[in-house]
Amino acid sequence: MPSADLPGLTVIDHPLIRHKMALLRDATTSSRDFKALVSEIAALMTYEVTRDLPTEPIEVVTPLETTTGAQVAGKIALVPILRAGLGMVDGINQLIPNARVGHIGLYRDHETLEPVPYYFKVPEPIGEHRLFLLDPMLATGGSAAEAADELKRAGAGEMALLVLVAAPEGVRAFNARHPDIAIYAAALDRELNRDGYILPGLGDAGDRIFGTR
Ligand code: PRP
Ligand code: URA
Repeated sequence: MPSADLPGLTVIDHPLIRHKMALLRDATTSSRDFKALVSEIAALMTYEVTRDLPTEPIEVVTPLETTTGAQVAGKIALVPILRAGLGMVDGINQLIPNARVGHIGLYRDHETLEPVPYYFKVPEPIGEHRLFLLDPMLATGGSAAEAADELKRAGAGEMALLVLVAAPEGVRAFNARHPDIAIYAAALDRELNRDGYILPGLGDAGDRIFGTR
């Protein structure tokens, strides 16, 4: 549901998402299960996030007669922010198999918390695609806002941001820079700590997905 005091944010509230988010947060969850959960939660979010996708009529021949069905109109691209956003791609791609996939490489400098860009490759022409920008964590909002800046500079049009955990600070910062981009989150957490980690959060999403720490 849209958040009253955080413009631009919709928290997708569903029993299965809440259940899987609790498993995801658990510090004892293995890297293998963590990766599977990220993908499953992203897939569950897709149902809500794609609610307003346009469709066009198509003729379908059933075993009995010809009827009119629907197909999703237009091109779709998933754009994960490396590394952790990669974990969300498969789950969404299972529901939208025709989606193309772009990649934006950014890491957060540990001292300044500022995003450092290192890679950018997206399907062309980017402006013809409806984009879903993917990152499990919206902390200060710097990485997602920088990624959206890069996409807009490349000519992007319609775009939504999907995150698993959002901090209020990140939602405000992202919305201030990109009020035209809807943010969908599986959970809205309390705050950031001094090191820029989300509380209660789930730790470092990239490290937990790829087992790097
Ligand atoms: C994490 C996360 C986001 C970013 C969020 O990535 O996946 O991209 O931090 O923080 P922000 O909202 O304050 O910018 P990280 O920089 O740890 O890179 P990684 O995915 O490669 O580990
Ligand atoms: N990035 C993460 O992976 N986790 C946080 O809590 C904040 C930024």
